[in-house]
Amino acid sequence: MILIDGKKVSAEIRNRLTKETAELKSKTGCAPGLATVLVGEDPASAAYVRIKNKVCAEVGFQSFEQNLPAETTEAQLIDLINELNRNDAVNGILVQLPLPNHIDPQKILLSLDPGKDVDGFHPINVGKLVLGDALLTPCTPTGIITLLDYYDIKIAGKHAVVLGRSNIVGRPMANLLLQRHATVTTCHSQTVGLEQITRQADILIAAVGRPHLLTSSMVKKGAAVIDVGITRVDGKLTGDVDFVSVSEKAGFITPVPGGVGPMTVAQLMANTLQAFKARNNFAGEVGSQIFRREEEDEAKVV
Ligand code: GUN
Repeated sequence: MILIDGKKVSAEIRNRLTKETAELKSKTGCAPGLATVLVGEDPASAAYVRIKNKVCAEVGFQSFEQNLPAETTEAQLIDLINELNRNDAVNGILVQLPLPNHIDPQKILLSLDPGKDVDGFHPINVGKLVLGDALLTPCTPTGIITLLDYYDIKIAGKHAVVLGRSNIVGRPMANLLLQRHATVTTCHSQTVGLEQITRQADILIAAVGRPHLLTSSMVKKGAAVIDVGITRVDGKLTGDVDFVSVSEKAGFITPVPGGVGPMTVAQLMANTLQAFKARNNFAGEVGSQIFRREEEDEAKVV
């Protein structure tokens, strides 16, 4: 079994981004800028946003941190987003989800400039992802593709099973795997015969937020198992995968913490750089392809 080290891969990506940012800065005099928008004081969301701003500064980006009170109205939030849309120093805008109940997240996401939507959540970017033509794709699933590439885990032709259909992870994950020519099955709370399906998976991605749902009997020997779950149980971060039993059967497995989590933040920075380059007409590789070794000819594949 090979333990997938998300911390190490994330650090490598952040180093590359730091170097590239310094070069761009010396050439152009500008650096990418990322705005984070947090509404309310949910401690987990506040912690994520703090990490994002810290890493943003580490790689040499400008960070614009916007922390708003929980009472902020939908109209006030849209006004702020419009301001950030107009601000040329801001290349990426991230609105931390979930938002308070009185704000409709779809309205907010629709107000983002799609070119600054570094989460890939705007309907335009979701549509482009489904068409296989997106520049900005959601950070967690894109970071997972990068991990698979880094460990040279083949995707094309493999059966990938995704547990969960959230807009943030499950749905975009399935689309990204399809784009890389996997045979993809999405499972969810209404799926019948879950174990028969998961046992067929060469790549198994658990993103349901149900601690230790995935046990050893549900996994094929040698499978790559990716755990996106982070639920606090008795003060400890717990994944969707029963790591102790599954690690005896899996060929590759991510730990929690230290697996997928650090990749999300690295990918957010990669997307921000991508948005900056697109805006300034610099060429460059797409953020999700940096460790890719599979050589399919996209044009020939149907
Ligand atoms: N909440 C949980 N994950 C995410 C994410 O990737 N982006 C945003 N904006 N909010 C989140």
